[in-house]
Amino acid sequence: MRRVTAADLYQKKAKAEKITMLTAYDYPLATIVDRAGVDTVLVGDSLGMVVLGYESTVPVTLEEMIHHTKAARRGVSRALLIGDMPFLAYHVSDEQAIANCGRLFKEGGCEMVKLEGGTEMAERVRKIVDMGIPVCGHIGLTPQTSIKLGGFRVQGKDVAGAQYQYDSAKALDQAGAQLLVMECVPSPLAKLITETVSMPTIGIGAGPDCDGQVLVTNDMLGLFDRFQPKFVKKYVDLMPEMDQAVKAYMQEVESGTFPAPEHEFKMDDSLLAELKR
Ligand code: KIV
Repeated sequence: MRRVTAADLYQKKAKAEKITMLTAYDYPLATIVDRAGVDTVLVGDSLGMVVLGYESTVPVTLEEMIHHTKAARRGVSRALLIGDMPFLAYHVSDEQAIANCGRLFKEGGCEMVKLEGGTEMAERVRKIVDMGIPVCGHIGLTPQTSIKLGGFRVQGKDVAGAQYQYDSAKALDQAGAQLLVMECVPSPLAKLITETVSMPTIGIGAGPDCDGQVLVTNDMLGLFDRFQPKFVKKYVDLMPEMDQAVKAYMQEVESGTFPAPEHEFKMDDSLLAELKR
């Protein structure tokens, strides 16, 4: 089966065909979303909140990202696999960024790395791309620096903020980024950026006019119940169903109805008699 490439995503943008992206952090979820035919799978650092139970994405380490990207890699055979760089793994220097992006790319086995930041990160992105590592940018609400941004807020709502998002998108495009995630930006601004940059844009809380959309899979499947951002649509609510299944199992074990005969391994009575002798 032919793998989706960045060039395929540019072609989709050119033909105005929407691009689908979902997150996955392990083999089963990656298998499910890849089998469904999404264009790209993101091993997001949302991992920290929806799988590892951290309060935010800040504590996520490079080792954790590599571990989970490797697991997702084993489940993805068609989609373009993107690994997310965790906080402070690419902020210190160009050398640190290249070395750590290189680790996620080489050891994790992804085809692209994603990192947060706008104009201030563009020259660094250029250097990473020059090393042969494809990059996806991430602007708007950047969760790793949400404290600095004043919390989980829509970005680019005033002139200065919108100008920064617009300039950031153009700078990342010119630096050679091949994909751009825009999180929590007003729809008209996301539309303008999408029409301006050559790279495909992927929105999350950025309206319908981006070239594609991404959701955290655990949110859209109802596998995360700590909070639900406005931009999430829950396509199924699995947690209550899983609660029910766990309770049914406990009830059947306690009442002795599980395991039933069809779950047992039988043994010849004569063998048993032999053992008892
Ligand atoms: O970490 C993540 O899952 C992300 C998406 C929300 C785009 O960055």
